[in-house]
Amino acid sequence: MDFSGKVILVTGGGSGIGLEFARQLAGAGNTVYICGRNAAKLDTAAEVHGLHAVTGDVTSVTDQQKIISTIASEHGRLDILINNAGVLEAYDFASDPNTLDRIEREIEINAKAPLTLTYRALPLLRQSNQPAVLFVSSGVAYVASAGTPVYSGTKALIHHCAQTLRHQFAPLGISVFEALPPVVATDMAKSLKSGNFKLMQPDDLVRQIIQGMKAGSPEILLGQSKQIKFMSRLAPTFLFRQFAKTEFH
Ligand SMILES: NC(=O)c1ccc[n+]([C@@H]2O[C@H](COP(=O)([O-])OP(=O)(O)OC[C@H]3O[C@@H](n4cnc5c(N)ncnc54)[C@H](OP(=O)(O)O)[C@@H]3O)[C@@H](O)[C@H]2O)c1
Repeated sequence: MDFSGKVILVTGGGSGIGLEFARQLAGAGNTVYICGRNAAKLDTAAEVHGLHAVTGDVTSVTDQQKIISTIASEHGRLDILINNAGVLEAYDFASDPNTLDRIEREIEINAKAPLTLTYRALPLLRQSNQPAVLFVSSGVAYVASAGTPVYSGTKALIHHCAQTLRHQFAPLGISVFEALPPVVATDMAKSLKSGNFKLMQPDDLVRQIIQGMKAGSPEILLGQSKQIKFMSRLAPTFLFRQFAKTEFH
């Protein structure tokens, strides 16, 4: 997979891992669109790093259409869709007063939006001569994380969907990649108080994901996610107990 002169959309590109993708890809000579809900954050990122900002919530049909039609009118094609936007909700399912909202929000953002946006982007992706979709899931696609009752389930869903879409899109010439990060030093990781994890830096993470895509690796395991996959096969109960020790703020 070649990475220059591409038209790329990074969801959640105003901060964290998404901003790092946008920064590195724009620096390599690509046209990078970023979307997110916070317009001020997006505009600042766009100005500093030479990106194209489109304010939009990935869970909104109207916003998805607006993002796609902006790229369609300005370029007529999309080469790479990076489904990165996500949220992590740590709470106790039975006692939290906002459980119902949290279930909805996490499933809408992490699981439903990457799939519906991919579907809506298909006509534009099919105008590219080397189209690709990247799903950013997580090492917890391989293990249920006890403190986050729904999060790891959304990532497991994306893990399975990435495999099925890779199979179904092959005849269309659309490559499907999945990146499975470990804990990464972004705002999201600030909700973790303690646990048996090693923080990975976003620049290192994104560099390795881009290298993996260039090499044509469909499933890109990063840092401790390699051990998580291995242990999920070898000793799943032990692994679950290790994850259950993680404390959240
Ligand atoms: N950090 C980790 O330890 C880690 C580990 C494994 C996997 N991941 C995954 O990596 C991805 C990026 O995480 P991160 O660490 O960069 O998180 P982050 O620092 O919290 O950033 C998340 C980004 O997603 C955007 N976003 C959230 N909801 C959105 C929505 N409804 N519509 C549009 N944009 C939305 C946010 O922007 P707005 O708030 O402005 O919308 C923000 O820019 C996520 O899918 C996450 O699950 C993270």
